[in-house]
Amino acid sequence: MTRSHCVRFFMTLSVLLTVAFAVLGGCGTKTETPEEYQARITSGNLTDWEVEHGIGPIKADVEIWPLDNAMAAAGKELFVKKCATCHYLDMRKTGPPLRDITKRRSAMYIMNQVLNAEIMGKYHPEGKKMVAQYAQFMTIQGITEENARQLYDFLRSEVNNPAVPEKDQPGFGVPPPPPQTTPAN
Ligand code: HEC
Repeated sequence: MTRSHCVRFFMTLSVLLTVAFAVLGGCGTKTETPEEYQARITSGNLTDWEVEHGIGPIKADVEIWPLDNAMAAAGKELFVKKCATCHYLDMRKTGPPLRDITKRRSAMYIMNQVLNAEIMGKYHPEGKKMVAQYAQFMTIQGITEENARQLYDFLRSEVNNPAVPEKDQPGFGVPPPPPQTTPAN
């Protein structure tokens, strides 16, 4: 190689490397637009985090707080009002029993399930299995992130308690929810 060839070779190489690093660096920092997110979720291309912790408004690890009895009590009230129509703690109702749910699923998964139930049922691999098993989607509305935390504390507070008969289940005998008036999303 002559000297000028050599210079040209290294100049080309450095340009190529610069471009390569710019592209690679860009990959790591690129944020998804809402449309890209939507397209990825509906095509079932979930990240490992989403497979473990669900899809919905909770998109990163949440620091788990110490069990709070006032939150758990508020969660119980919500459970009786909003969940007990379809769930008992110890036996199957419309949906699965939930006594051991905080052992089986992460806090983030449970929160995403109550905040984004239908999307979880449509696009999450575990959610899809549950929908197939129970032959029905979970539909729920009007749950805030604070409510999801209260429900999580209630479920956590019950996890190690012994099973109780059906008549003693929280919310036993509550009437079914009013018919769904808004279309499913
Ligand atoms: C209209 C009936 C209905 C209501 C109301 C309902 N659920 Fe569900 N739930 C279901 C069904 C059916 C499933 C299984 C199908 C699925 O996962 O979508 C389910 C699944 C779940 C799961 C996932 C269980 C697992 O093993 O992965 C959790 C957690 C849950 N429900 C919690 C709740 C909580 C908490 C509430 C109240 C805020 C609630 N549900 C209200 C019907 C309901």
